[in-house]
Amino acid sequence: MGNPTLSVTDNRTGKAYELPIKNGTIRAMDLRQIKSDEKDFGVMSYDPAFLNTVSCESRITYIDGDAGILRYRGYPIEQLAEKKTFLDVAYLLLYGELPTPAQVEEFEARIERHTFIHENTKKFMEGFRYDAHPMSMLVSSIAALSTFYPDARNVEDPAIRELMTIRLIAKVPTLAAYAFRHSNGLPFVYPDNDLTYTSNFMNMLWKMAEPKYQPNPVLARALDILFILHADHEQNCSTSTMRVVGSSQADPFLSTASAAAALSGPLHGGANEEVLRMIDEIGTPDNIPSFMESVKKGERKLMGFGHRVYKNYDPRAKVIRETAESVFAVTGRNPKVDIAREIEKIALNDEYFIKRRLYPNVDFYSGIIYEAMGFRPEMFTVLFAIPRTTGWLAHWEEQCKDGDTKISRPRQVYLGQNERNVP
Ligand code: ACO
Repeated sequence: MGNPTLSVTDNRTGKAYELPIKNGTIRAMDLRQIKSDEKDFGVMSYDPAFLNTVSCESRITYIDGDAGILRYRGYPIEQLAEKKTFLDVAYLLLYGELPTPAQVEEFEARIERHTFIHENTKKFMEGFRYDAHPMSMLVSSIAALSTFYPDARNVEDPAIRELMTIRLIAKVPTLAAYAFRHSNGLPFVYPDNDLTYTSNFMNMLWKMAEPKYQPNPVLARALDILFILHADHEQNCSTSTMRVVGSSQADPFLSTASAAAALSGPLHGGANEEVLRMIDEIGTPDNIPSFMESVKKGERKLMGFGHRVYKNYDPRAKVIRETAESVFAVTGRNPKVDIAREIEKIALNDEYFIKRRLYPNVDFYSGIIYEAMGFRPEMFTVLFAIPRTTGWLAHWEEQCKDGDTKISRPRQVYLGQNERNVP
């Protein structure tokens, strides 16, 4: 087909319009020519929550929600999780290709050079109350990094953007570990740059008096896989936030903090925390049927189930299910996984969930693994934010280079009062 178009007839005026279709989309601005009369502003599209609105062209992550497919730069997520490290994948997301051994060595060295954070960071971390949520501490401290790097505002300079990207990927685990140590009343641990990205993070979390922390390799690999699975997921709520805030040319620390704030919500990255609370509340398998009934009555949601895009099994949930077994071989079995599996079994055979195409998402099993590793639910979303920082930054960079980028600014339908005089 040459140049596909969409024919639209405005029944108010009887006029016909031909709207070009490109990549399965029409340009919303092409609707503006459709006017009821000369004074009319023109037709707009109404799409709260962006159910059917494309906000950008992207070459980073591909999802087919009906088929349950997720690919980064063309590579299936299952293969990346099996064969690559998180930093390989971070490089892939940022630069478009998997690194050669020399490239990954250089990339790792650059990340390592930036893992330390300014000593003043400790001071404001210490200022948080003992029971501050670690995700709130992380969001605030990422934003605070902006105060240390004033040149980050120069977002039109590609070299500055790259340096800030490396800094963020390197420093977010350090901030996350500081938030964890603060919550636990433990002294902060400095990065150990002899260790890999994930192992160093574990070192900053769990090192005590030993001269050198050596992570369990099975747990380090499991965490690395979880980081790979969470690294990007195209235009979700937090990535869209990154793009919207970034479109105003805010600096990348502030944009990343905004994206992390979006991730913290229980309908997004905060769901993994809610899954554990839900399983705790269910308590024993015999309470599952009554719990499922309350979900079906609409009294509550089955957390970790359903997805805006996936209407099939989330491919990440499959890998996580398998990874769980390797973790339990080290940590001992978390009995909550049996409750989760039973919930899944019931849901996958129940008309309510089948009809709505509700399947486990990435958050359904991840919290159970994290808990087995020794994390409390409050840390789960922080663990999500660390790898997702790379995805946010890959999208931010893509947007910075995109000639179509303008400040994001949606329209509204005003339904309020007409002009009236103050009495
Ligand atoms: N439990 C019970 N019913 C659900 C669930 C759920 N988890 N999710 C959706 N439904 C129902 C809705 O009530 C609705 O039913 P209805 O048609 O009878 O009104 C139908 O399924 C469609 O749901 P929507 O809310 O329209 O789906 P939407 O795409 O807007 O929401 C979302 C997606 C937010 C993820 C939703 O499924 C949800 O709240 N899930 C639980 C929270 C969760 O696990 N979030 C993590 C998502 S993954 C991530 O962000 C990393």
